[in-house]
Amino acid sequence: MFYQFINRFIIYIVPYLPVSFIRMFAGRYVAGETARQALKIVRELNNKGYSATLDILGEHSENKVDALDVTQEYTDLYGYILSHNLNCNISIKPTHIGLDIEEECAQNNLNTLLKTARETNNFLRIDMENSPYTDASIKMYLEALIHYQNVGPVIQAYLHRSPDDICSLNGEKLNVRICKGIYKESETIALNNKSDINDQYVDLVKAILNGGGYAGIATHDLTLINALDEWIIENQISPDRFEFQILYGVPMAGRLEELLEKGYKVRQYVPYGEEWFEYSVRRLKENPVIITYVFKNMFKSR
Ligand code: FDA
Repeated sequence: MFYQFINRFIIYIVPYLPVSFIRMFAGRYVAGETARQALKIVRELNNKGYSATLDILGEHSENKVDALDVTQEYTDLYGYILSHNLNCNISIKPTHIGLDIEEECAQNNLNTLLKTARETNNFLRIDMENSPYTDASIKMYLEALIHYQNVGPVIQAYLHRSPDDICSLNGEKLNVRICKGIYKESETIALNNKSDINDQYVDLVKAILNGGGYAGIATHDLTLINALDEWIIENQISPDRFEFQILYGVPMAGRLEELLEKGYKVRQYVPYGEEWFEYSVRRLKENPVIITYVFKNMFKSR
């Protein structure tokens, strides 16, 4: 009850918060406004042993020209990653490359990106947005998979449909990120109890690794990381079948270094771009709980 009140209060005050406050919120998690700043962070992460994935902030492009501009920016990124010899792939949001405008527009842009990814020996992750886009995003992935192998979807553990999605997608071609899911969804669509979501999360990762797929285990939840790490060891799952993933800036109490020492791949998701303000405000409104993370983490080191 108390937390519901706090959440509603935060949603109400977000539009009135000073830019400096939002910048403080964004500063920890956003790698800067330009590709140059973001590539510098990726280089630093690589030097510490981490892989990275770059995301240009933004979503819901409103017209084809904007969607094409975003596609071009991502295409350029593949070039920079190659020329700087970075260990880094790319994550895109379907609505950023045109899914809100027309499925065909987004698919064409995705294919353009995948062609460049193939030419530069790289990979593309299709982030998963909220439930109105789930079917279309999976469809885009499956169509892309006909011509390209260097592409993978995201499945959200909180969705009721996700076990069925994993069941139908699993196999050697599947390289999937599993996350809990960040958007507010209704109970008819998604689980809303943390322990149910965690149980489903673990089941999904086990299903992928018991099958033929590759799992991107994207979570900061140490209980989940520890449980899966234990299961991976017990079941002698080879480290080339999975990786751990976190959002850049989230403190992990030394656990990432331990994972690296075990020889596991750990990837940090690095967002950047001019739209940091809009992105941060939207994230805060969608899920005010994030603000409590920020307050908790403001006093912890990276
Ligand atoms: P949980 O929310 O239980 O958090 C566990 C602990 O981690 C918290 O107690 C808190 O201390 C800390 N924490 C979590 N998030 C934090 C944050 N942002 N800042 C500071 N501390 C934080 N979602 C989606 O719907 N579509 C997608 O495509 C993606 N992609 C994605 C990629 C990667 C690499 C990650 C790590 C996450 C995503 N997500 C996502 C977001 C994901 O769905 C989820 O909402 C958040 O990761 C938070 O869930 P956790 O699994 O970390 O658990």
